[in-house]
Amino acid sequence: MKIGVIGLGFVGLSLSSVLASKGYDIVGIDIDKEKCNKIINGISPFFEPKLDKTLQNGLKKKLKISDNFLLINECDFIFVTVGTPQNLNGSIDLSIIKKAISTIGENLLKNKKKPIILIKSTVIPGTIKKIILPILEKKSNKKDGKDFGLISNPEFLQESSAIRDTKFPHVVVLGGNQTVFMEKTKKLFTKLHPNVPIITTNHQTSEMIKYANNSFLATKISFINQLSNICQKIPGANIDDIGKTIGLDPRIGKLFLNAGPGYGGSCLPKDMKALINFANISGINPTLLNAVEEINAKQLEQIILMAKQKLGDLASKKITILGTAFKPDTDDIRDSIAIELIKKLLKKKAKIIIHDPKAIKNTKRIFENKISYAKTIEDALSKSQCVIIMTQWKQYEKLNNNKFKHMTTKFVIDCRRMLVGKQLDIDYYAIGLGK
Ligand code: UGA
Repeated sequence: MKIGVIGLGFVGLSLSSVLASKGYDIVGIDIDKEKCNKIINGISPFFEPKLDKTLQNGLKKKLKISDNFLLINECDFIFVTVGTPQNLNGSIDLSIIKKAISTIGENLLKNKKKPIILIKSTVIPGTIKKIILPILEKKSNKKDGKDFGLISNPEFLQESSAIRDTKFPHVVVLGGNQTVFMEKTKKLFTKLHPNVPIITTNHQTSEMIKYANNSFLATKISFINQLSNICQKIPGANIDDIGKTIGLDPRIGKLFLNAGPGYGGSCLPKDMKALINFANISGINPTLLNAVEEINAKQLEQIILMAKQKLGDLASKKITILGTAFKPDTDDIRDSIAIELIKKLLKKKAKIIIHDPKAIKNTKRIFENKISYAKTIEDALSKSQCVIIMTQWKQYEKLNNNKFKHMTTKFVIDCRRMLVGKQLDIDYYAIGLGK
C-alpha cells in the first residue's frame, strides 16, 4: 500500500513524516522545488518541535519527496493538505486546492488504481460536493464511489505540537458516502489509531465540524478575554484563578481559557472570517461569531491604550516587543497579534525593537529596516521605555529586576501574565489583573 500526501506545509509534512516513521510507504508532493530539496535533506522549511527528527527518521525508511505529481498514480490513498487561504473579503480562496484537485483528476484519467482521496484542507461546507467532486469526475471521466473514493478528513493538529497531535489525535472524522472506500479508510485509521473514536458522517457535516471546532475555540478565547477586561476593573482580581477554576467544571473544560492579546495564527482568524462570510451569504446573521471577532480586535486596542496612559504620545518612544511568533515553539508569524501591534505602533511613529527566539527571520521579511532586531533579551530591553510581552516563550519567565535595570522607564505590559507574583521594581500592568 502506498500513500500520497499533496502539500507539504504543517499538516502535510507532519503527516508524511509520522506515517513514514511508522514504516508506511509514503510519497510527499509539493509544487515548490526548493522546499522539496530542503525536505529531502532532512530539514523542515519551518520550525516545528520534533519535526526534523521525525522527518529524518521517515527519510531513512520509505519516505519519498518530490514535485512530480505523476507519482500519485502509484498511490492507494491520497491526502490533500494544501492551504486554503482567505480572500480580501474574508471568504475562502479555493484556487490552490482547485488546482491540486484538477491535477489529481487528470492523473486519475490514466490510472488503473481506484484510489481514495482524502481532503484534509479546511473547506467551507458544501465545497467537496459542489466543487471538488465535479472537478475530479470531469477531469478523470470517472465516478466517485465506483472508480475512486472521496472523503473529507479534517485535521485538528495544533502548530507547536503537530507531531504529537498527528501521532495521537483525539478524534478521526471521515465524511463521505458509506461505500467500500469508506470501509477501507476506516480500516486504515483503526490500524493507525486503535483507540481513537472514528466519526463517520457525510461530506458537508464533516466540513462543518472543522469550523465548529475552531470557532468554538475562538469563542472560548474571546469569552475569557472579555472576562479579563472586566477583571482589570476589579482591584486584586486575577483572571487565571478564574479560568483555572471554571475549567475544573467538566462541562467547561480547562483548555483555551488563557486570557491574552487575542487569538492569532494561520487558522482561527481565517476560519472565523470564512464561517462568518458563509453564514452571511446563507442568510444567517452570525451575531455571536461577530462578537467573538470584535472582542479579539479590541484586545489589541487595549494594549495600545495601556502604553499611551503611561507614556503619553507614542511618537519616538522606544518600545520593546517580546515575542512576534503567534504562539511559543513556532517561528510562524502569520496573523500574529504581535505583528498587528507593531504595525499599529509604527503608525504612531514609535521606535520598535523586537526579540523572538525563533521568529526574527520571518519578522524581518515584513518590517525589514523599519524596526530593530535584538539577539538577546538584554539588548532588547536596553534603554527601552516600555516592554510588551506578547508571546509566552519560556525564556521570558526568567525576567527579573536585573534584566530590567537598563530600561529608561521601567514599564512592562505583560499580555500573558508571565511575571505575576515576582517582586519587581517596575511599573507592571498585566492583561486580566485588577490594579
Ligand atoms: C488551531 C486549532 O487549535 C487546531 O485544533 C486546528 O487544527 C488549527 O488551528 C487549524 O485549523 O489548522 P493553531 O493555529 O496551531 O491551532 O493555534 P492555537 O494553539 O489554537 O492558538 C491560536 C491562538 O489562540 C494563538 O494566538 C494563541 O496564543 C491563542 N490562545 C490560545 C489564547 O490566547 N488563549 C488560549 O487559551 C489558547
